[in-house]
Amino acid sequence: MGFPILLVIILTLLSLILLVVVADNNSTASGHVALNCGASGQNNDDNGRTWDGDTSSKFAPLVKGVTAPASYQHPSLPSTVPFMTARIFTSNYTYSFPVSAGRMFVRLYFYPIAYGNYAVSDAFFSVTTRNLSLLNDFNASQTAQAINVAYLVREFSLNVSSGSLDLTFAPSKHWNGSYAFVNGIEIVPTPDIFTTADTRFVNGGTPAPFQINTDRGFQTMHRLNVGGQAIPPKDDLSFYRSWANDSPYIFGGSGVAFSRDNNLTIKYTSTVPNYTAPIGVYGTARSMGTNAQVNLNYNLTWILPVDAGFFYLLRFHFCEIQYPITKVNQRSFFIYINNQTAQRQMDVIAWSGGIGRTAYTDYVIITTGSGQVDMWVALYPDLSSKPEYYDAILNGLEVFKLQDYGKNNLAGLNPPLPQKPDVNPNGPSREGNSRGTVLAAICGAIGGFAVLLICFGVCIACRRNKKISKDSDKSDDGCWTPLADYSRSRSGNSGNTATTGSHASLPSNLCRHFSFAEVQAATNNFDQAFLLGKGGFGNVYLGEIDSGTKLAIKRCNPMSEQGVHEFQTEIEMLSKLRHRHLVSLIGYCEDKNEMILVYDYMAHGTLREHLYKTKNPPLSWKQRLEICIGAARGLHYLHTGVKQTIIHRDVKTTNILLDDKWVAKVSDFGLSKTGPNVDNTHVSTVVKGSFGYLDPEYFRRQQLSEKSDVYSFGVVLFEVLCARPALSPSLPKEQVNLADWALHCQKKGILGQIIDPLLQGKISPQCFVKFAETAEKCVADHSIDRPSMSDVLWNLEFVLQLQESAEDNSSLTGGMSSSDVSSPLVPTRLQSDEPSTETTTTTTASTMSITQRSIASAESAGLTPSTIFSQLMNPDGR
Ligand SMILES: *[C@@H]1O[C@H](CO)[C@@H](O)[C@H](O)[C@H]1NC(C)=O
Ligand SMILES: *[C@@H]1O[C@H](CO)[C@@H](O)[C@H](O)[C@H]1NC(C)=O
Ligand SMILES: *[C@@H]1O[C@H](CO)[C@@H](O)[C@H](O)[C@H]1NC(C)=O
Ligand SMILES: *[C@@H]1O[C@H](CO)[C@@H](O)[C@H](O)[C@H]1NC(C)=O
Ligand SMILES: *[C@@H]1O[C@H](CO)[C@@H](O)[C@H](O)[C@H]1NC(C)=O
Ligand SMILES: *[C@@H]1O[C@H](CO)[C@@H](O)[C@H](O)[C@H]1NC(C)=O
Ligand SMILES: *[C@@H]1O[C@H](CO)[C@@H](O)[C@H](O)[C@H]1NC(C)=O
Ligand SMILES: *[C@@H]1O[C@H](CO)[C@@H](O)[C@H](O)[C@H]1NC(C)=O
Ligand SMILES: *[C@@H]1O[C@H](CO)[C@@H](O)[C@H](O)[C@H]1NC(C)=O
Ligand SMILES: *[C@@H]1O[C@H](CO)[C@@H](O)[C@H](O)[C@H]1NC(C)=O
Repeated sequence: MGFPILLVIILTLLSLILLVVVADNNSTASGHVALNCGASGQNNDDNGRTWDGDTSSKFAPLVKGVTAPASYQHPSLPSTVPFMTARIFTSNYTYSFPVSAGRMFVRLYFYPIAYGNYAVSDAFFSVTTRNLSLLNDFNASQTAQAINVAYLVREFSLNVSSGSLDLTFAPSKHWNGSYAFVNGIEIVPTPDIFTTADTRFVNGGTPAPFQINTDRGFQTMHRLNVGGQAIPPKDDLSFYRSWANDSPYIFGGSGVAFSRDNNLTIKYTSTVPNYTAPIGVYGTARSMGTNAQVNLNYNLTWILPVDAGFFYLLRFHFCEIQYPITKVNQRSFFIYINNQTAQRQMDVIAWSGGIGRTAYTDYVIITTGSGQVDMWVALYPDLSSKPEYYDAILNGLEVFKLQDYGKNNLAGLNPPLPQKPDVNPNGPSREGNSRGTVLAAICGAIGGFAVLLICFGVCIACRRNKKISKDSDKSDDGCWTPLADYSRSRSGNSGNTATTGSHASLPSNLCRHFSFAEVQAATNNFDQAFLLGKGGFGNVYLGEIDSGTKLAIKRCNPMSEQGVHEFQTEIEMLSKLRHRHLVSLIGYCEDKNEMILVYDYMAHGTLREHLYKTKNPPLSWKQRLEICIGAARGLHYLHTGVKQTIIHRDVKTTNILLDDKWVAKVSDFGLSKTGPNVDNTHVSTVVKGSFGYLDPEYFRRQQLSEKSDVYSFGVVLFEVLCARPALSPSLPKEQVNLADWALHCQKKGILGQIIDPLLQGKISPQCFVKFAETAEKCVADHSIDRPSMSDVLWNLEFVLQLQESAEDNSSLTGGMSSSDVSSPLVPTRLQSDEPSTETTTTTTASTMSITQRSIASAESAGLTPSTIFSQLMNPDGR
C-alpha cells in the first residue's frame, strides 16, 4: 500500500523540482554556453553565436516545460534566435549547467509576448541561483513596456564556487496561473573583472578604498559606449557584451561626441587588458565642447535609472583620443556621482600614460529609497587647469548592481509603467507599431484610465508633460506644456547645443509670433535631445530663446485633427488670459503650415510632485498655504476676472504648477470656456475631469458651475494637508476617496490624525481649524453650500495670517523650509499605489465645433518621471 503512495509523492516532487543537466559539447570546450530554450538543434544568431536547443537534446533529456513559438516576430528583435521560441514552466524548474568554478556572465533572454495559450500577462516569476535571487516576481512584459523595448536581456555576473550553475525558474506564488518562461540562456566565463581596480566608495567625504568581495554577484544595469554608436555582441568578442549609445541618458542634450584622430592607435596596457572594453568604446568619447566659457557653466551629466536600495559599481572608461591633448595637466576634471565628489582632478593622460592609452576607474555608491531612482553622473572642468582646456572626457560607462549580502538578493522591483496612453483613435502615433500596441496595453493595464475620453471645450491649453524618459529616445508621449519639468529640472545646462535665433523682445501683453526659423533655432532644429514628449498630436520640445528664456514648444502634428481655424481660435482665446497665477501661452508659429505653440517653462513642476511619492524635499506648511493661495487667485481670476466666466473643470494638484520662484500657476484652464451665462445646451454633455476631484453634483446632473471647481479645489486642499492622492484604490474602502475620508475624519474630530506626518506639530491649532473648515465647505455635497472662490481665497489668506502670527508668537517651528530638509537622507515618502484615476465619461454624443481633447495625467510619482499627456480627440472617432 505504501509503495504506490510513495511513488506518487516522488513523482509529484519530481514534477515540481526537476534538476536537469544541460550542456553542449562545444560549450564545454570553450566554456561558452548558448542555450536556445524551447528549440531543438543548433542555430546561429546574427551575432556569430551558435545556440543549442534545449529540446530533445541528449544533454537535457529530462527538460520539462512546454515549448512554444512566439506569436509574433517584433521587427526590433536582433535575430530570431533565441527569441522566437520559449520554454514555459508552470512549476519550478532548475537548469543545471556544468561549469568550471569562477566568474561568468549569465544572460537571460526574454521576449515577452503570448506563447501558444500562454498569455503574456501571466508570465510572473522568479529566477534564483542557489540562494541568490536574480529576479523576483518578475514581470517581463511590464519591464519591457516601461523602457519601451520588445525584448530584454538580463545580464548577471556570478562567481560560481564549484560544480554547476543552477538556475531555478519559479512561477510566482502571488499570481494565480502564473508561469515562468525564458527564451535563451547564455553563459560566458570571464576572469575576475571586478576586483582588480582601485575601487573607491563615494559617500560625501573623500572617497575611501572599497573592497569588493570576489564571490559577490552583479547585475549589469547600464553599459554605455559614450559618444559612440551602440556596439552589438559580435563586435565585442571578448564576452559578447552589448554597449548602448549614451545619448538617451544625457541630461539636456549637452556635450559633443567625437572619435579618435585617424592616425591614432589605441593601446591596451597590462592593467587594462583588451577584454576590459572593445576598441570601439575607447575610440569614441564625449567631451563638454570647445567653448571653455560654456563649459564652466554646466555639468556634463548622465541620468541613469537604477533600483534603489543597492550598492552600485560604476566603471568609467577613459582614453584620450584627440590631439593636442597629450600631456598631463591639460584636460583635467571632476567626477561627481549623485552630486558627490567621486574624483577630483581626473587627468586621463596621467592615469593612462599617454594619448591613445586606455584606463578605467571604479567607484562604488549606495542608493537609498525604494523602487527606481535616478543615478546622476556628472563631469565638470577642473578650474585649476588652464582655461583653454576647461573640458572633460568620458569614453565608456558601466553600472553594475551589487548583490545585497544581507538578503542574498539582486532583484529589483518591476519598473513602473510610464503612464502615457497614447490614444489617438484615428491611428497609432507616429512612433510605429510597437508603440501602438504597447500603449494600448498600457491603457488596458491602467484600467482606470478611460483615456478614450472625449472632452469638449475649446481647447488647447497645453498640458504639461514631462516624461523625460529614462530611455528618452524611446520616450514618447504626452504633450504639453508648461513643461513644468519634474524634479530633474533641466536648468542651466544646455551647454553647447543651445542656440538662439534672431528675435525681438517679447511683447508683454500679446501673443508673440515666432518665425519658424526662430523656433528651429530655439530647439536646435527640433533636435531629439530637446524632445520632452510626444503625443499623437505633436511633440514638445524644450526651447531656449532670447539668450536663455526657457520655453515649452509644442509642434502640432500637421496630421492631427486640430485644424487651422481651431488653432487660431485657441491662440486668440488663450493669449487673452494673462494672470500671475495662470500658465500662459507665450506665442505661436504658423509659418509654413506649422502649428506651433509656445508656453512658459515651469521649473518646479507640479504641486503634486512636492507632496508625496517624491524625493523632492517636503514643502513647509507656509509654503503649501502660499501655493494654495496662488492657485486660488488663478481660479478666482478665471471665474470672475474675464468677461465670460471660465470654468476650469480639471482642478487638481497636477494642474497647479510651480515656477522657479515657487509661484503657483494654474494650467490647462483653456480646457473649457463655459459658464452659466453661456447657453448650456451647447455645453457639457460630457463629464470631464478627474475622478477623486469630480464634483458629485456635476457628475449626477452634468451641471457645470464654478462651484465644480471649488469642489475640486477643496480636494486639493485636503491633498496638500494629508499628502496623499485624491484616490488611493489600494486603501481600505472608506479611505479610498480622500474627500470622503477627510470629511468623515473632520466630522469625527480626528482629521489631525490623517495629516501629513511631516506637518505634525507644525500647524498652529487655530490655523488648522480654519483651514479644515474651509476645505470642508469646498467639498460640500451641494454646490449651493460651497463658498465662492473669492471666499475661499479670503479664508486662505486668513489661515496664512493665523499661521504667521502663531509662528511669530510661539516656539512653533513653522515647519521645515525646503532648505532645512534638502539632505538626501530625507526618507522618500512612498504611498500606496495610485493607479491613475483620470477619466471622462461620455454621456451623449455631442457636436462640438471646436477641438476635442482629452487628458489624463499620471500621478507624479517622484521616483519615476511622471507624465501628463493629453490628446486631441476627434469626436467622430468614437
Ligand atoms: C558530445 O559529448 C558526448 C559525451 O560527453 C559524446 O558522447 C558525443 O559524441 C559528443 N557529440 C559530439 C557531436 O561531439
Ligand atoms: C559544435 O560541435 C559540432 C560537432 O563537433 C560542430 O559541428 C559545430 O560547428 C560546433 N559548434 C561550434 C559553435 O563550434
Ligand atoms: C543557502 O543559505 C543557507 C542559509 O542562509 C546556507 O546554510 C547554505 O549554505 C546556502 N547554500 C548555498 C548553496 O549557498
Ligand atoms: C505584467 O505586466 C503587464 C503589463 O504591464 C500586465 O498587463 C500584467 O497584468 C502583469 N502581470 C502580472 C502577473 O502582474
Ligand atoms: C519554487 O521556487 C520558489 C523560489 O525558489 C520557492 O519559494 C518555492 O517554494 C518553490 N516551490 C516548490 C513547489 O518547490
Ligand atoms: C570566486 O570566489 C572565490 C571565493 O569564494 C575566490 O577565491 C575566487 O578568486 C573568485 N573567482 C573570481 C574569478 O572572482
Ligand atoms: C586580446 O589579446 C589576446 C592576446 O593577448 C588575443 O589573443 C585576443 O584575440 C585579443 N582579444 C580581443 C577581443 O582583441
Ligand atoms: C596625428 O595627427 C595629429 C594632427 O591631427 C598630429 O598632431 C600628430 O602628431 C599625429 N600623430 C602621429 C603619431 O602621426
Ligand atoms: C543632484 O542635484 C540636482 C540639482 O542640483 C538634483 O536635481 C538631483 O536630484 C540631485 N541628484 C541626486 C541623485 O541627488
Ligand atoms: C555640478 O555638479 C556639482 C555636484 O552636483 C555641483 O556641486 C555643481 O554646482 C554643479 N555645477 C554646475 C555649474 O552646475
